[in-house]
Amino acid sequence: MQMEQLVALCKRRGFLFQSSEIYGGLNGFWDYGPLGVELKRNVREAWWRDMVTSQDELDVPPGAPSTYEMTGLDCTIIMHPQVWKCSGHYDMFHDFMVDCRESNKRYRYDQVAGRWVEYDGSRVFVTSYQSGDEGAADVQQKALKFFKLRAKHKERLQWDGPMTPLPEIEDTSQVLAPDAKQLGTLTEPREFNLMFKTTIGALGGEQDTAFLRPETAQGIFVNFKNVVDSTRVKIPFGVAQIGKSFRNEITPRNFTFRSREFEQMEIEFFCRPDTSPQWYTYWRDRRYQWYVDLGLAGDRLRLRDHDAAELSHYSCGTADIEYAFPFLAEGEFGELEGVAHRGDFDLRSHMEGKLVREHEPDGPFVVELNEEGQPKYRGSGKDLSYFDDQTRETYVPHVIEPSAGADRAALAFLCEAYQEDEQPDEKGKLKKRVFLKFHPRLAPIKVAVFPLVRKDGMPEVAREIYGELKPHVSAFYDEKGAVGRRYRRQDEIGTPFCITVDGQTLQDGTVTLRNRDTLDQWRVKKEDCLAELQERLSGASEYPQ
Ligand code: GAP
Repeated sequence: MQMEQLVALCKRRGFLFQSSEIYGGLNGFWDYGPLGVELKRNVREAWWRDMVTSQDELDVPPGAPSTYEMTGLDCTIIMHPQVWKCSGHYDMFHDFMVDCRESNKRYRYDQVAGRWVEYDGSRVFVTSYQSGDEGAADVQQKALKFFKLRAKHKERLQWDGPMTPLPEIEDTSQVLAPDAKQLGTLTEPREFNLMFKTTIGALGGEQDTAFLRPETAQGIFVNFKNVVDSTRVKIPFGVAQIGKSFRNEITPRNFTFRSREFEQMEIEFFCRPDTSPQWYTYWRDRRYQWYVDLGLAGDRLRLRDHDAAELSHYSCGTADIEYAFPFLAEGEFGELEGVAHRGDFDLRSHMEGKLVREHEPDGPFVVELNEEGQPKYRGSGKDLSYFDDQTRETYVPHVIEPSAGADRAALAFLCEAYQEDEQPDEKGKLKKRVFLKFHPRLAPIKVAVFPLVRKDGMPEVAREIYGELKPHVSAFYDEKGAVGRRYRRQDEIGTPFCITVDGQTLQDGTVTLRNRDTLDQWRVKKEDCLAELQERLSGASEYPQ
């Protein structure tokens, strides 16, 4: 599948629109249309149900070290600015970027890559801002243009070495920036904090500056004590939150994959320090399996453990759940979710102040001091340790954090669902059929109801069935156009079942049920439609629940 086909389908059928499109759009912001909002709601609801509400605290789930409890929170987007100072985001949540003095464009430093090329005595590092094969092809084109050569003379270019990231090039005076005509137009790399700033209140002084949260996780940490004190949860337990996060990404790209406003589904799982390695393994495997169960099976999904160099400033172990999105080059994967062992870093930071490693990279965490030897950013000073009333021990819990993106998950499910086959039309001619093979739990509409024709009392019966289904499942009624075309419209948006009222219905009270994937058709009594659908939607299909 080409990404363009999916993007076009998403727009045409109302899954996703560019934000503020009639004003030319806003880069990095996306609106979910009538079908997209249902898809994303289904992703969120599947996650909340599977992770939170259906968690049985009396039984040990397969692979878990013990029983555990789950609960939820819904915190504000704007939090006390000190939260971001103690979490490390204020100082460390940045990307390096370079500006081009000629084109006035800004690039993420680590995403510019190029190749050395020689012609006529000049040696130039020609760059591109595209990745993979596209980037390599772009560099070829740019080199020809720079040296004013025609494509047929491309052999005259002497290439030296493979594509190389810009940060590996020491002297940038011979670098041709991705959109420049002259050499050496890039600035030195500069840090760029990814947090969106805003101002609280009408006066708007520097002291009123606040930030839109770049992750939902911190709301959970700062409420740890509130949750423990207001409920009867005991360690081990997890707190889940779904909500919007904001990052002023330098280069939002690849549809919704890297947006500036997006939704996260995060769990902070609190446990005894000595059990945290087992809980880390449990959550890593459990979260991977969640995607498999919802249809991302196969070699496009993978679980990848980080090596030490990749670990975040707080992490003792992290794995990414990744998907081979079709916009990536062959063999490349994009992150869907990170599962991180965060130790006691976050709770301790909010107690004591901003933490740093004493001896990089693996020394113990200590409070960072300023030049006067005082804590650089003081924490809340509140005691966020946990008292275990069974063992009479007090400790700062360790945390395992499975952190998923709802938009990336929805995008992966869309990519995976996209299928094409050939089916005969009404005249028996083979025609391409596009269908979205969503897991029934994720499908925006579960069933469409049609009268075969708009006469002979069929619409009345079909409307009656639709009215009976609608309170229980998301249903759609359509009586316009040829029935074959109506089927294809439902296939294209991933509706797993269609019910058709036809001549036989009027005689024996049965209707046709049709399966989107197999195209099987069978008859059921019209009063049995709901029970039949519920059974098939809840697991008696090829999809496990
Ligand atoms: N609390 C940890 C944390 O936020 P992260 O890896 O930065 O970790 C977690 O983000 C998940 O949020 C990612 O795996 C991804 O699914 C999603 N995400 C992060 N940045 C995103 C962006 N710019 N656009 C869409 N989703 C994003």
